[in-house]
Amino acid sequence: MRQARTSGTSTDSDQNQATGQNLSTDRKITISNHGGFKEKLAKMESTLNQANSSTSSTTIDWLVPHPFVCEKQFEFCGHPLNIARYFGGNLGFSASIWESALVLCQYFEQEKISFSGRKVIELGSGTGIVGILAVLLGGDVTMTDKENVLSQIEHNVSTNIPSTFRHRSKVCALSWGKDHIKFPADYDFILGSDIVYTSLTYPLLLETLLHLSNEPTIIYLASKLRTGNQSTTFHETLLPQHFNCQLVHRVEDKNINVYKVSKLGSKRRDDLLM
Ligand SMILES: C[S@@+](CC[C@H](N)C(=O)[O-])C[C@H]1O[C@@H](n2cnc3c(N)ncnc32)[C@H](O)[C@@H]1O
Repeated sequence: MRQARTSGTSTDSDQNQATGQNLSTDRKITISNHGGFKEKLAKMESTLNQANSSTSSTTIDWLVPHPFVCEKQFEFCGHPLNIARYFGGNLGFSASIWESALVLCQYFEQEKISFSGRKVIELGSGTGIVGILAVLLGGDVTMTDKENVLSQIEHNVSTNIPSTFRHRSKVCALSWGKDHIKFPADYDFILGSDIVYTSLTYPLLLETLLHLSNEPTIIYLASKLRTGNQSTTFHETLLPQHFNCQLVHRVEDKNINVYKVSKLGSKRRDDLLM
């Protein structure tokens, strides 16, 4: 994986940006680095990524003088990616590229995973980096998140997926525990990076995973294990009531685990629940 420079650009469609909707990037203003602004932003992002607890509603929006788009370059599996984040649009946690996303992309690279001809859904896509890579690796991918995050994902889809492959990508609103019923239950793969981060959503997430999967479905979850948010309990106690959970990769210094998860057969589930 190669991670290169960060560049900052700002758009002047501030009204839309304030609500996180339809952020236009037609008219870009390059942000000057007044008072080391970009360094402060990078430090804040790194602090958020390292934070042991993510249960507060901390966002870096307060740092932002005007809404703007910040781009970061990566390369995975030979595919260059240019990922934009919309700061100041009240996207909160969705406006960061979380380390778990990069770990999951690295895992796909290391394991030479192919999604060719497979039906994939990503939950809590954020910037869409994982789902976009899955499209470039051959998948027919639906990237999902809350409604207000979709324009950021759509922007990244249009920048990173060549038009000839774009018919294999879809961006849709999916709020866990609510909208999953609008989606089919026959995905080959379900992907999620850093979506296990607040215990308030675990029952909703579980309900959504149960709806979207069948026994052959492979679920990859990359999760940073933070103290205080019971992410270990989610993976080691809640999930195993319905799914086989295998730890397939761990990045020790970041305390990030990648789990390969598949649904238990109904008999096995009944036995466990008795
Ligand atoms: C920590 S961010 C991770 C973003 C991205 N996957 C990454 O790793 O960079 C968590 C993501 O989950 C989404 N999310 C949180 N609760 C959700 C819910 N109830 N329904 C749908 N998405 C949700 C957030 O909007 C956010 O984009």
